[in-house]
Amino acid sequence: MSKTIFVSNRLPTTIRQADSGLQFTPSIGGLATGLGSVHQAGTSLWLGWCGLTSENVSEKERRELCRRLPREYASIPVFLSETEMEHYYYGFCNRTVWPLFHYFNNYAEYLHPDWECYRTVNRKFFDSIVEILGDQDTVWVHDYQLMLLPAMIREKFPRTKIGFFLHIPFPSFEIFRLLPWRSQLLQGLLGSDLIGFHTYDYVRHFLSSVRRLLGYEHNLGYINLRRRLVKADVFPMGIDYKRYQAAHRQPEVKAEMAQIAEKTVGLRLVLSVDRLDYTKGIPERIKAFSQFLRENPQYREKTTMVLIVAPSRTEVSAYHELLKEVQELVGDTNGEHGTIGWTPIWFFYRSFDFEHLTALYALADVLLVTPLRDGMNLVAKEYVATRTNYKGMLVISETAGAASELGEAVIVNANNIEEVAAGIKTALEMDDQEKIARNQAMHRRLAHYNVEFWAQDFLRKLATVEEQQRISASKKVDAKVEAKLLEAAEKPGDRLFLLDYDGTVMGFSNQPQNGRPTDELRELLHRLSEDRRNQVLVVSGRDRADLEKWFGDLRLNLVAAHGLWIRESDSDWERPEIVSDQWKETIRPLLELHTARTPGAVVEDKDHSMAWHYQRCEPELAAVRVRELKDALEDLTGNLNLGLVSGNQMLEIKDTTMNKGRAAARWLVGREWNFIFAVGDDWTEDELFSLLPDEAFSVKVGIGMSHAHYRVESVEDVRRLLHKLAAACSQSNLNP
Ligand code: UDP
Ligand code: G6P
Repeated sequence: MSKTIFVSNRLPTTIRQADSGLQFTPSIGGLATGLGSVHQAGTSLWLGWCGLTSENVSEKERRELCRRLPREYASIPVFLSETEMEHYYYGFCNRTVWPLFHYFNNYAEYLHPDWECYRTVNRKFFDSIVEILGDQDTVWVHDYQLMLLPAMIREKFPRTKIGFFLHIPFPSFEIFRLLPWRSQLLQGLLGSDLIGFHTYDYVRHFLSSVRRLLGYEHNLGYINLRRRLVKADVFPMGIDYKRYQAAHRQPEVKAEMAQIAEKTVGLRLVLSVDRLDYTKGIPERIKAFSQFLRENPQYREKTTMVLIVAPSRTEVSAYHELLKEVQELVGDTNGEHGTIGWTPIWFFYRSFDFEHLTALYALADVLLVTPLRDGMNLVAKEYVATRTNYKGMLVISETAGAASELGEAVIVNANNIEEVAAGIKTALEMDDQEKIARNQAMHRRLAHYNVEFWAQDFLRKLATVEEQQRISASKKVDAKVEAKLLEAAEKPGDRLFLLDYDGTVMGFSNQPQNGRPTDELRELLHRLSEDRRNQVLVVSGRDRADLEKWFGDLRLNLVAAHGLWIRESDSDWERPEIVSDQWKETIRPLLELHTARTPGAVVEDKDHSMAWHYQRCEPELAAVRVRELKDALEDLTGNLNLGLVSGNQMLEIKDTTMNKGRAAARWLVGREWNFIFAVGDDWTEDELFSLLPDEAFSVKVGIGMSHAHYRVESVEDVRRLLHKLAAACSQSNLNP
């Protein structure tokens, strides 16, 4: 039977050694708590580190773990040595990747031994996977500690379905490029079939780094590795909504709530819950609370902050220092504002279990979640879900991934102490009706996009990526396919030929203004189109004037400027839709700037599109420039309805309301054909291929993803095939 194997550095169960023996406790952190709920469904096996180092585990304990973890927790332990903890876990994971990916690049260290150890430990995880991996299994790797693992699995098991999910932010290219081993990490991740992120911004940053560092193009999130496709997509992680929503009905939670309520009569509670981490903005939050008390003396003795900080990564010096800073700030605040009967901040430096945490969630008037950077932040979602009477209010910073889904909360900038202080006041003073309306909207979203939905959505997508990969693996036109094609063309009836121009029937020229057809090509098209049973359609991104000049005298159907202009063989040019070109003025300065900085580049102003050609540029410089230009254009064109199309040695910007597929549809819809042959070489024709009926012969020129059924290697192959097809048509006319 096939299974799904989750792999993460930390298992959802952490083992501690106590006098009474081994203790099994739930791990904290979003990955463990979130994915842990999915794991409880019982359909997965989880491989990860159990929290102990190999030096400290006796043979007896090891045997107990290897027996109990699989049986009771469906988990397989990986043991890390002290050295691996130092260089891999505290080192590369938490002194290099963690700070860098959270934009704390001044904390990041780049040490070669740490990197070497990161590779070794990823290999160690791989070796453990090999022992349990079955033919039909799916592997789902999690988080930044194991970014090399997907490629290691792919190399040995090319057919295994591999997903990867990053639980932390993926930083912008400018930050990511600082990493000495940046390309290796990307290559490692690209071993996956599907790579998931919490937000669209992280996907964008990742795609941009892949393109700029490795040169792989992408379209609609599909990265074209030339031999394989990898999809990058957004999957915002949810929580086990029902569990949190029902928490206040559990007897233990009820009892805890009663105790807290008794101790806090007359007090409003502002809650804060995090692992100790400099990304969480804990000092800034304490300062903001203190500022709030300073500005609003009426809340003194009436409001208390419950500050829960769970110990984390204690061996990393930045965490030590942070603990000291937090302790000092708590002391300062209590010293400044406290009175005999009232302590402004109750500080707990330990982790709370589900029952104690949810009791506080259920009672807190405000939850302050103000990380400086956070991949998602599940605490924010858990609080909203637990507060079922809708009387609490979340204050969240815009740099938490969760903020993009919790827009009804009070949103603040975590670095702006005054704004956070004002946010606390707004949340405390919001009237009940407004709180109810805002919380209800958030509840609906959390109930729907829960963690089960998240996991299923990811795994479903993983299955469809495989389908897309099959699409891209279209068959080569060999002697057998060719015979089938010619046989079909010889049959009586009407035939449709859909031919892309540049790169398909005509080779690319060094000068875009050239590209004039050769006599041989004109002769070939003439021969095909003079047969009255054939309709030959030449589809091109080129201007109407060019096509008219080159083919005006032939009985061809023409589509120019990606579908903006159409000429049926027996009529005049017509323009199916009126489109404004105003957008050109917005992007022209950017194209010109890149042209000035790239010797040999040319801007071409086309009918309703613009192209940046770089055939005559120094290739390495052009590769860098075109990636920069794409990034800049993507930002600029996001809300203009424009699309970027990578052609051969050129980048075209066009109005996406137009495409070749839509233009060609008029020859497909409501017309009967006995034979359809379509051929093209890049993404723009793919829109067309996807519209064709199943029995059509669609052919892609070159490699890359495509909906086409078949592929050929070159323009010469296309021409050869067309000559044979023309002969087959004539043959059929001789023997009708
Ligand atoms: N958590 C916990 N006890 C604590 C503090 C946190 O169980 O004392 C849990 C919390 O309920 C949440 C997770 O740890 O599910 C923290 O996840 P989040 O995404 O907020 O932050 P992360 O720790 O992953 O950065
Ligand atoms: C974040 C990371 C997780 C990690 C958790 C706790 O949520 O994304 O991968 O497990 O923090 O950190 P720790 O280092 O204790 O595993």
